[in-house]
Amino acid sequence: MADTAQLSSKLAYLIDAEAPVSDFRTDVIEGLSAPPFELPPKYFYDANGAELFEAICTTPEYYVTRAEIELLQTSAASIADIIGPDANIIEPGSGAAEKVRILLKALPNPAEYTLFDISREQLDVVARGLAEDFPRLRVGAVAGDFTRPLLVTGEMFQGSGKRMCFFPGGTIGNFSPTDQITLLSGFKSWLRPGDGILIGVDRIKNAARLDAAYNDAAGYTARFNLNLLRHMQSALGAELNTDDWDHQAFFNIARGCIEMHLRANRDTQIGLDQHVFQFSAGETILTEESWKFDEARLRALADALNLDLKHIWSSKDDAFSHVWLEMPDA
Ligand code: SAH
Ligand code: TRP
Repeated sequence: MADTAQLSSKLAYLIDAEAPVSDFRTDVIEGLSAPPFELPPKYFYDANGAELFEAICTTPEYYVTRAEIELLQTSAASIADIIGPDANIIEPGSGAAEKVRILLKALPNPAEYTLFDISREQLDVVARGLAEDFPRLRVGAVAGDFTRPLLVTGEMFQGSGKRMCFFPGGTIGNFSPTDQITLLSGFKSWLRPGDGILIGVDRIKNAARLDAAYNDAAGYTARFNLNLLRHMQSALGAELNTDDWDHQAFFNIARGCIEMHLRANRDTQIGLDQHVFQFSAGETILTEESWKFDEARLRALADALNLDLKHIWSSKDDAFSHVWLEMPDA
């Protein structure tokens, strides 16, 4: 249950919804058993992966973070008009929780902020930092996998204002169109009429610019991708040679998404427990997709969810957008 010993007393709650490590094992076996090989991206984020991700966000090629922060700075007042006072914010995949600070400063007297992340080490540190910097805010944390259903408990959402699920970073794009609907339906279960989801989406654009964003020259994205193999070694005792694998990422124009793969540069194998998975040179494991959006895609998503697409804010060159999906009256 809740392990509060190492946490600051300032945290209002810590809900432990951590998935068992056996999930990781099962997902790897399932993903490598037959082509097309595939591993779920949530396993990128051990402590090392979380750090590499922060480094990606500062590279010159990865425009996404800068575009989104600039957008938030210009639209925060307009978002605050919609959300109003005493709001409750929950952020699935809260990470370093930097972007939400812009919102928290712009909102009138925000009541509560819930961090929700699978990277437990990072969650502890970040949640404590936030509670310290925003002493009047109720700060809670959920350690767990946001793709699993999370029931609202009595200690959550105690502010008298609206509930807002904040899902920035383009993370929604890391799910297939069908899974996007499933995931957001889960988030929708936290909402009452007038509440909503603010999602950040990266826009379909010039393929060269997209390709560059996922192939930074400093090599952080490559190391982030390869860290999945290291995480399999450290957490599961998988037997493999990371030198046999290369990072590969490209914008698939027909599908409208970035595909990120690990590509075998020679014949090789991965051992896990009694399993041995064989790969020929050139074979790939799909590790992540990053779907990009146009307006038609956004409208289709809102329609499928039965949410009202009330507002779209876009960055200067339309590189990135925030979308307010509002829960209609019952
Ligand atoms: N929302 C922040 C951080 C984005 S990075 C921002 O936009 O700046 C993505 C974060 O999601 C990481 O911290 C990672 O640990 C977390 N994450 C990824 N998959 C997850 C899952 N299935 N469940 C919970 N957290 C997840
Ligand atoms: N969701 C963001 C995106 O798809 C951030 C991200 C997730 C990312 N995994 C990544 C960025 C891997 C670069 C590489 O852009």
